[in-house]
Amino acid sequence: MADRSFAIRTFGCQMNVHDSDKLANLLLHAGYAAGEPETADVLVVNTCSIREKAEHKLYSDLGMLRQWKAERPGRLIGVGGCVAQQEGDALLARFPQVDFVFGTHNLRHVPAMLRSAEAGQRRADVATTASLDRFDLPERHPHFPDATPGRAFLTVMEGCDMFCTFCIVPTTRGREVSRPADAIVREAERLAARGVIEVVLLGQTVNAYGRHDLRRGTSETAGTLRFASLLERLAAIPGLRRIRYTSPHPIFFDDELVQAHGAIEALCPHVHLPVQSGSDAVLARMRRRYAADAIRSLADRLRAARPDLVLTTDLIVGFPGESDADFDATLALVREVGFVDGFSFKYSPRPGTAAASLGDAVPEAAAQERLEALQALLRAQTLAYHRSRVGREAEVLIEGRGRRDRQVTGRDAWHRIVHLDAAAFPEARPGALVPVRIAEATPHSLLGDPARPAHVPLSGFPSGAVANRR
Ligand code: SAH
Ligand code: SF4
Ligand code: F3S
Repeated sequence: MADRSFAIRTFGCQMNVHDSDKLANLLLHAGYAAGEPETADVLVVNTCSIREKAEHKLYSDLGMLRQWKAERPGRLIGVGGCVAQQEGDALLARFPQVDFVFGTHNLRHVPAMLRSAEAGQRRADVATTASLDRFDLPERHPHFPDATPGRAFLTVMEGCDMFCTFCIVPTTRGREVSRPADAIVREAERLAARGVIEVVLLGQTVNAYGRHDLRRGTSETAGTLRFASLLERLAAIPGLRRIRYTSPHPIFFDDELVQAHGAIEALCPHVHLPVQSGSDAVLARMRRRYAADAIRSLADRLRAARPDLVLTTDLIVGFPGESDADFDATLALVREVGFVDGFSFKYSPRPGTAAASLGDAVPEAAAQERLEALQALLRAQTLAYHRSRVGREAEVLIEGRGRRDRQVTGRDAWHRIVHLDAAAFPEARPGALVPVRIAEATPHSLLGDPARPAHVPLSGFPSGAVANRR
């Protein structure tokens, strides 16, 4: 009999994307085959509950999946991720089509839960644990399909102890735990040996890595380091050309980490720095633990270490009590720091969070207007930055085909999307690092031409790459 096959639908952040990778790997090791949703026997929805809209995607999906399940006897539906963690058994009670529910600490139990479900047992497992076991997953299965061959996510810490008043993550992901540095380095070495040249270090507050151990004086027994020292160890691994980390919290940039941006060549000149608001009053009610001026000086410190650094951010508009003046302060901060891009969201009250019980809600129309004004400003800043890049050189890590025919697409070190004409870049396979010269700027991306090798004279066509130019 053919292997039973699975498919995973993923919502939410990179941690969730990476959890889906880990789950796919576990299921491959358990003898299941990777398939497409239309034909699979098992469908897992990995959910997000960061805003109400994200949570609702699960409910509309589950409606459609009732039909999917009815099409073939024996099909099973699993729900994991942040909504699963939040709702647990309630999902089984409310949706008879759901066979198993697993929380964010229980990926390892999914193969066993799946076997029980095949035997007709419906279960929810959302127990949380402080154990580091959840970082110990099998090495990648030979059939694991890499989304981008040259790039990989690497978990360094999980959970969040910050409890920003708007945020559900501390509830859905549990307490902060940092993974021992040796295990991180070993995984990075294995990735590099497989041809990975870019690692993206993941954690809900990634630069808080090891902080509890440091404070308690237990770093040695826990095997953790200061975050900047971890970066140094990773940068020493042959073959790893690019290191990124996401998402850092502004209060955990110590001088060492700032200096690392000038000292470590492999550390990409891009930091995604979620600031949420530019108003001190709003930041205080959000319990973000910094003032807007701290962001200004952090940006200055980072740029002193690495002048070409690109900063991007996350922002929330319409937080309870946000006045026009508060919102203007956000616009001012975005302008002054010169964020090159950002994700902006309308505040969405989340169950059980401190902000959910604040009065003084901002009317929907005002929040919408602010969102649009903020997005217009960010778009203008993105385009201005893109224009400043025209004529400059970059290296693009190729991810795959572009939207247009005969185009390939990737990202440069500054995390900007760069499209290339496939015919002009015969070497641009997914996972390759390709030198380009930026030829054109558009609102969402850059266009790259082949970079002229320095030794090639302007006239004559001694190299294939130059002769192939459009
Ligand atoms: N750990 C990251 C953020 C993770 S959540 C950090 O602290 O920066 C990703 C983004 O979603 C946040 O930066 C915030 O901008 C947004 N977000 C979180 N909760 C939200 C809510 N209740 N309503 C609207 N946006 C929210
Ligand atoms: Fe949420 Fe704040 Fe933790 Fe980020 S730091 S995950 S916004 S509680
Ligand atoms: Fe969503 Fe959970 Fe990530 S709520 S943003 S999937 S941590």
